[in-house]
Amino acid sequence: MSSNTEILPDSLIGHELYETDALLTDYLLFHYGSAEEFIPWQHAPSSALFFPIRTTHYAEGKHYERALDLGCAVGRSSFEISRYAKQVIGMDYSHAFIDAANKIKNDGSMAYRRSHDGDNIYTATRPEDSNPERITFKQGDALAIRNDIGKFDLIHASNLVCRLPDPELFLRLLATLTHSGSKVILATPFSWLETYTPKDKQPKGDSWQWLLDQMNEHFLLETYEDEPFMIREHERKYQFVISRVSVWKRK
Ligand SMILES: C[S@@+](CC[C@H](N)C(=O)[O-])C[C@H]1O[C@@H](n2cnc3c(N)ncnc32)[C@H](O)[C@@H]1O
Repeated sequence: MSSNTEILPDSLIGHELYETDALLTDYLLFHYGSAEEFIPWQHAPSSALFFPIRTTHYAEGKHYERALDLGCAVGRSSFEISRYAKQVIGMDYSHAFIDAANKIKNDGSMAYRRSHDGDNIYTATRPEDSNPERITFKQGDALAIRNDIGKFDLIHASNLVCRLPDPELFLRLLATLTHSGSKVILATPFSWLETYTPKDKQPKGDSWQWLLDQMNEHFLLETYEDEPFMIREHERKYQFVISRVSVWKRK
C-alpha cells in the first residue's frame, strides 16, 4: 500500500517511500485520525475506518507476556496490543515511522499536516488507556531479526507480507519466533508489486491458497475475515482496500 503517488518522485522505490514526509503524514492520519479528520464525507463507508484497531482486536480475550508487532509503522497497533500484553516490541524498517512512534510514546502526541491540506495542523494522540511503558519501538528488518530476540506469545503483522522482498522467508521465520500455543495475526490485501517483491518471490497461483500452504506446517488456522480499509490520497480521492486477516495458532 502506498499513496500520495501524485506528489512523490518516480525515482523513490520500495522502502524509500516509507521514509518520506508524505507517507509519514498518511500513516499518522491512517492510524490516529478521527473519522471526521480522515474522511469528512457522509458517503464514506464507516466499516473501513480504524483498521489498526480492528486487526488488533483479534488478540482480545487473552493476556500475553510478549508480543511482536512487525511492520508497525507509526505505532497505533502496538499501543492497542499494549492493552493485552506485558511487553510489546513494535518494529518497522522505516526510521521516520519509528521516530514518530517513539515521539507519540514519549510525548503523548505529535503534530502533523495532512497532504494537500494547506497549513492546517492535526495531532496524532497516544490512545488513552494504552500502556506505553510496556512498548519498545525499534527500527529493524522483519527478515533479519536477531536470534536472541526470543519467542513471542503474540505476533501481529498487518499489511506487511506483500511489502517484503521474500514473503516465504518471512512466513518461515514466524515459526522460529513463536512457541506452541502462540497466536499470529496476519493481515494482507495480497497486493503484490514488483517494487517490493520480485516476480519470482510472488505466489504463482491463488494467494490465499499459497498462504494456507506456507503456514500449514507449523500453524493451525483459527479464523479469518476480510477487513476493509481506506488510504487517503487527497480530500476527494481514497483507495478502498480489502485485507484478509487470518489468525493462527502455533502447533
Ligand atoms: C503497508 S505498510 C503497513 C503498516 C501498518 N502495519 C498498517 O497496517 O497500517 C507496511 C509497513 O511495513 C514496513 N516494512 C516494510 N518492509 C519491512 C521490513 N523488511 N521489516 C520491517 N518493516 C517493514 C514499512 O516501513 C511500513 O511501515
